[in-house]
Amino acid sequence: MAKLLRSRDLFERASKIIPGGVNSPVRMFKPHPFFTEKAQGSQLHDVDGNRYIDYCMAYGALIFGHSYRPILDAVKKQLEDGTVYGTPIEAEVELAEIITDSLPCAEMVRLANSGAEATMHAIRLARGYTGRPKLVKFDGCYHGAHDSVLVKAGSAAAISVPTSLGIPQETAKNTIVLPFNNVDALHQTFEDQGDEIAAVIVEPVIGNMGVIPPSEGYLTELRRTSNKHGSLLIFDEVITGYRLALGGAQEYYGVKPDIASLGKVLGGGFPISAVAGNKKIMENFSPTGGVYEAGTFSGNPVSVTAAIKVLTELRDHGSRIYGKLQEYTDELAENLSDFIASRKIEAQVNHVASMFTVFFTSEPVVNSEKALSSDRSKYSKFHQGLMMHGVYFPPSQFETCFVTTAHTEDDMHHTLDAAFSAMKEL
Ligand SMILES: Cc1ncc(COP(=O)(O)O)c(C=O)c1O
Repeated sequence: MAKLLRSRDLFERASKIIPGGVNSPVRMFKPHPFFTEKAQGSQLHDVDGNRYIDYCMAYGALIFGHSYRPILDAVKKQLEDGTVYGTPIEAEVELAEIITDSLPCAEMVRLANSGAEATMHAIRLARGYTGRPKLVKFDGCYHGAHDSVLVKAGSAAAISVPTSLGIPQETAKNTIVLPFNNVDALHQTFEDQGDEIAAVIVEPVIGNMGVIPPSEGYLTELRRTSNKHGSLLIFDEVITGYRLALGGAQEYYGVKPDIASLGKVLGGGFPISAVAGNKKIMENFSPTGGVYEAGTFSGNPVSVTAAIKVLTELRDHGSRIYGKLQEYTDELAENLSDFIASRKIEAQVNHVASMFTVFFTSEPVVNSEKALSSDRSKYSKFHQGLMMHGVYFPPSQFETCFVTTAHTEDDMHHTLDAAFSAMKEL
């Protein structure tokens, strides 16, 4: 890898006028991130002329890799016809129809612009529908940067601010945080406070502490317990939606929530998100109901066009695509695990569908407490080592690597060589 001189200069400039030099804290790593010039397929190209096989993939937003031609072509055509109208368009209806056809819990859909917006609206909807104030979330799950859910959140919040400043105690007290994969804690909380709990919100597979899958039967238990107490179950499928399967984690694990939030993969690289759910609940959104939800750019034609392209490709070729992603990820994870075992390195590889994480800890990672036992400085060295060998993993131990249809057999070999070298150099 060549030097990062231009990136260093840009970072110095950025740091003077952008807090921390980045527009999202997860992008920061020491001594400074590289600045990207362009991206194509599986590769990121930085401003210093280096190339990296990318497994960050904009934190899971891309399932076809970068600059996927069919999405670009569809969007280019739409750009000529206008970028935002402030009126309804036919394509919004088409997109909502595809979502309701593909996602088990979706009878109605409301579009928004980011994952955070989608979870914020989903939570308000649950509170408005049940008339209850409290929310159960799980330690290490991240649902976006808004007040109700920035309590013991994962992703960058796991390392910097476990509970952000600026969140009033009155808000935080309505968020109950439980350990993931712990049924006893769930039951106890519902026994004590069930009639005050509007909803349980969960990442069905945690992607924001690295990958942590649900233990056998855990999601079913969330469904059963929330039903029993008249609370709603929200699956935050901002990462898992359209990534695990066409019907997201709810299809993959066969558990249907009341409401789901979607984002990332849905937009094919453009900002769009959605709240989807059962009609009786969704009709509580304004203007039919009393739960206010709105957005100037919601349902904008550019993002909607991209989303339709993503979803139709996944719908029409899903079994081949998901099979291929699974195969690639299994092969990569198994080879990494074998190497780790052969060298007696204290590390674990967790993986589900096209998501995987290498944790530097000797213990199986089943919740955020175990994830936090990982050696973060080792991960940082591994991350730097991979970069030296032309591979880009997300910079934090508490993020997920994502495989896309753009990753090739050559990428696989290159990645394994790079990972083995980086681990030997630890
Ligand atoms: C599971 C989950 N929910 C919500 C969000 C927030 O999405 P956005 O960053 O688009 O606001 C994220 C972002 O990483 C996420 O991973």
